[in-house]
Amino acid sequence: MARPIDVEVQKHGEESIQREVFGTRVGFILAAVGSAVGLGNMWRFPYRVSEGGGAAFVLLYIAMTLVVGIPLMLCEFSVGRRSRLSPIGALKKEGGRRWALLGALGVLTGLLILSYYSVIAGWVVRYALAGIVAGFPAAPGEYFNTITTGIAPILYHLAFMVVVITIVMSGVEKGIERASLVMMPALFLIVGGLAIWAATLAGSGEGYAYYLTPSLGELLNPATIAEAGGQAFFSLSLGMGAMLTFASYLSRDENLNREAVTIASSDFGVAFVAGLVVFPVIAALGLTSQVSASTVGALFIALPGAFVEMGAAGRVVGILFFAALAVGALTSAVSLLEVVTASIIDEFDATRRSAAVGAGVVITLVGLVPALSLDALGLMDATTEWFLTLGAFFMAIFVGWRMRDPSAEMLRGATGFFASIVPAVMFFIRWLMPPIVGFVVFYAGRNLWNTVATTFGL
Ligand code: TRP
Repeated sequence: MARPIDVEVQKHGEESIQREVFGTRVGFILAAVGSAVGLGNMWRFPYRVSEGGGAAFVLLYIAMTLVVGIPLMLCEFSVGRRSRLSPIGALKKEGGRRWALLGALGVLTGLLILSYYSVIAGWVVRYALAGIVAGFPAAPGEYFNTITTGIAPILYHLAFMVVVITIVMSGVEKGIERASLVMMPALFLIVGGLAIWAATLAGSGEGYAYYLTPSLGELLNPATIAEAGGQAFFSLSLGMGAMLTFASYLSRDENLNREAVTIASSDFGVAFVAGLVVFPVIAALGLTSQVSASTVGALFIALPGAFVEMGAAGRVVGILFFAALAVGALTSAVSLLEVVTASIIDEFDATRRSAAVGAGVVITLVGLVPALSLDALGLMDATTEWFLTLGAFFMAIFVGWRMRDPSAEMLRGATGFFASIVPAVMFFIRWLMPPIVGFVVFYAGRNLWNTVATTFGL
């Protein structure tokens, strides 16, 4: 299988040096799905659903994935494959100097996301270890507080970043590929199994009702609509050039449209099934009040409770679950650091080693702030969400109005149905995405402002 990060090394230097490509379709899909599936699906999606009024959020999320997520993924794919460069260089090459700013916004966004993403991944690792060493905690709400305060979250964040930096620095070794090849399907199976088990719990009905019965009021709430859009970008790794960078390693005959649909549906599948675990379990175990006190902790409070309930088998399942989730987080984190690293190499002619270490150290230091404060973590999440929506907005404008003949790139390798939809997709990108994503940008900005105001008591 192709190793995108090794490939990247060979690109630097002169344009004419041949750029390696993913050897197989599966290699690309795996890398892109590995980037998309992570904490966004298992941690962020259920917590956003709790904040966004349950089922209405789920429906809006599906709509946003279809209407803006998949077209935007196609935009990033086309720019990346056409230019064969990382975001800053790609946008400069296809659109001129000023567009490089959009690439720079993406790099900054990636840096900020990874700095708190790693903190949460650290919690996941800690839960896995806790399961191995002492079993899962009987009082999950209190345990979550212990986990997220004091010096421990810093240490786990540091440890996680060391692994991420090592992987990006030395290229993606066979190890991580093999690990994700095994662990990603394992994660799907475990989550699916847990969803079935959750269905057997007495008292789970309330959880399903909350998750699956939308209220009309929420469906029309503009803030909820916008949050669903922001979550779609985050979960699909869109709006900052990660998918763009992956597509730059893609061969010319790949069917971009089909891949976008495949990646988006796998990503949604994982998130949806995660909800089918979290909400029934919260209802059945009577954890509702603990979760509403800390929606950020929904996953971390609900699941250990479930594992304790399941007895000895639960301990094994729980350890496997958190281990697999840590791998999912790792493949996503690698994609985030890779975008920053590749851009530093391109712009400053640095070696891969120093770029990865330099970027990694800065990100690790920035991450000390969210490691120390959940408020800061929430603030960074809201800030980057706004940046992702801005990035998405300008990317749609770029592909719709600036890039030369983007449909030619979308049609390359596409056949049948997937080729026939290109004109409709282009119409969408030009005329519908700017107003819809613009609306999302506005409300994500407002949400950021509200978060700032409540955090600082303004
Ligand atoms: N999509 C990943 C997740 O759901 C996180 C992620 C990886 C990401 N790369 C990204 C989010 C780029 C936004 C942009 O966990």
